[in-house]
Amino acid sequence: MAKVAVIVPAAGSGQRFGAGRNKIFENVGGAAMFLKTLEAFTNRSDVCQTLLVVSSDDKDEVVERFGGHLGFLGVSIVNGGATRTQSVRNALERVCDEAELVCVHDAARPCVAQVWIDAVFDAAAKTGAALLALPIHGTIKRATDDSTVSETLQRDEYGNLWEAQTPQVFARDILVAAYAANTDATDDAALVENTGKPVTLVPGDARNIKITTTRDLAFANAVIKTLPKPTQLGQLHPFAD
Ligand code: CTP
Ligand code: MG
Repeated sequence: MAKVAVIVPAAGSGQRFGAGRNKIFENVGGAAMFLKTLEAFTNRSDVCQTLLVVSSDDKDEVVERFGGHLGFLGVSIVNGGATRTQSVRNALERVCDEAELVCVHDAARPCVAQVWIDAVFDAAAKTGAALLALPIHGTIKRATDDSTVSETLQRDEYGNLWEAQTPQVFARDILVAAYAANTDATDDAALVENTGKPVTLVPGDARNIKITTTRDLAFANAVIKTLPKPTQLGQLHPFAD
């Protein structure tokens, strides 16, 4: 079983959520969102290190209110950066030597089930780079600034589109090389793609939502009770409920 270091970026400010403080403190399924996210990883036998990336604005509150709990879970705190990329870069420098794989998973995605983590960890162990993603099945329209349709995309032109989620998981040397290349990208997988490495898409689940707005929080609280249970001796299909 490959050993995995998990990086959980939580050092944003939640501007679009608009709570006047970082959304990571909002309650999801009975706990602070970032704790719920961390707990999906900390009791896994394949996880050897968990790094929580926190901004300077939130660090005191995280340490004072949650320091004991984080210590119990074995989570280390890393200082955040001005961008998500910089936050992940700071944590990557702290990954322990034992880790063969590095997993990046946003604190803002607390509804992640063990079976989905199993699937993306397995794929990354095989190919060196994998992410959870959702195939886009809908009809896609382009709009003008005043929300009028300017174009309906033709399926055969845009076919095979996927929406990226996290976890995104990489062989440690592949991710380190991607960050060293210093290219620009909106997620870790794209940094790896920029180095020419193939990246595997693992079919995810719409419940693994990234909480961006208050509506997303309501959705997350509704679906977190419905997540698939861990597989027992591999008897269940990984995406069965
Ligand atoms: N993040 C981070 N460091 C940053 C910016 C974002 O660690 N400088 C983290 C966020 O805390 C979040 C994840 O990256 O867990 C995805 O970012 P996003 O959903 O955009 O969160 P925010 O940047 O906080 O939200 P917003 O863009 O609305 O301000
Ligand atoms: Mg952001």
